[in-house]
Amino acid sequence: MNVLITGGAGYIGSHTCVELLGSGYGIVVMDNYSNSSPAVIGKIESITGKKFPSYQCDMLDYEGFEKIFKENKIDAVIHFAGLKAVGESVEKPLEYYRNNLAGTINLLRLMKRYGVRRFVFSSSATVYGMHNTAPFTEDMPLSTTNPYGTTKLMIERILTDLCHAERDWKVALLRYFNPIGAHQSGLIGENPNGIPNNLMPYIMKVAVGKLPELRVFGDDYPTPDGTGVRDYIHVCDLAAGHAKALEKIDSLNGARAFNLGTGKGSSVLDVVHAFERASGVKIPYRVTPRRAGDIATCYADCTRAKNELGWEAKYTLDDMCRDSWNFIRKNPD
Ligand code: NAD
Ligand code: UD1
Repeated sequence: MNVLITGGAGYIGSHTCVELLGSGYGIVVMDNYSNSSPAVIGKIESITGKKFPSYQCDMLDYEGFEKIFKENKIDAVIHFAGLKAVGESVEKPLEYYRNNLAGTINLLRLMKRYGVRRFVFSSSATVYGMHNTAPFTEDMPLSTTNPYGTTKLMIERILTDLCHAERDWKVALLRYFNPIGAHQSGLIGENPNGIPNNLMPYIMKVAVGKLPELRVFGDDYPTPDGTGVRDYIHVCDLAAGHAKALEKIDSLNGARAFNLGTGKGSSVLDVVHAFERASGVKIPYRVTPRRAGDIATCYADCTRAKNELGWEAKYTLDDMCRDSWNFIRKNPD
């Protein structure tokens, strides 16, 4: 099977490229490198020892995008490409709606035109909103709190409508919890430019001395130690979840949502302490007020992915911290 991977040079996309090449899939990668670098393509090739076609292309450029479908036989698409910073989406909603929604619609129109009907979508636990109680199950009511999350929910709805209208589509909506960690080679991982928004990238920058201390956003939540609880999942487990979704995609009936998490919650301080154990580096931190829009506790019920995809996360929080540390140590800049 030949799989088009949009956003394939990004954090989760690059790990999924490695996983698919290792499982014998053919891949074609497209990315505009707005949040990644062409150098990642060479790194995927050096990890796997395999070469594959890659295109620098923007999803919003329909003609440029079409060239990829003309030049390659595509059997399925995994759609990672999108903008993903929550705070930025509040400041620039039009940019987020245009990129994520218009880009996805271009992709779906091209798939329709070229007879491609298998689609795996990067959704997010953010669609569970603020009013559900963990563990989250796929059939809970959905809502969002920011434009980024709304793009994810709207795309889920577009795909669901499409599957109702045209019965030959097979769509997996993968709702990721909190991906962290990196490939064990230390060649690919997540290293955002500037000041990170998310917990693990922030801790990593503190660990290599690029930032002085972590701010812990609130210690008065109704959680065991008062800090926010999340379901951290190793990016390689997540990548394996995509391979499982592709394996099972023909058995899906329309659009089906799956949680990809570990089913376990860890607090901010659990992550800090696990990272300190893995790295031997002390992470100084200071408690500050809560961050607007944060919920106390978020973790997945992953029963559906286990039963229907035959997928389960394997890596522990200690593994995730070890691999994040290995990556940042080798790529401090
Ligand atoms: P990432 O930013 O590392 O990867 C996304 C890739 O898409 C980047 O390489 C970027 O250059 C590319 N891209 C963006 N707009 C594009 C466009 N118009 N045309 C072509 N390429 C474009 O992000 P990631 O962490 O790998 O996330 C991948 C997907 O998973 C995203 O859709 C994200 O919203 C979703 N997701 C991520 C997380 C997370 O915590 N990382 C959680 C839930 C869902
Ligand atoms: C955030 C987004 C979510 C998105 C996800 C992945 C918000 C409100 N939610 O999720 O929509 O899908 O990232 O991109 O932005 N924390 C600190 N100090 C920090 C950073 C984080 O204490 O410097 C805490 C947070 O309060 C939270 C936990 O660490 O309790 C995890 O935060 P983060 O990594 O940003 O992920 P989420 O908030 O779960």
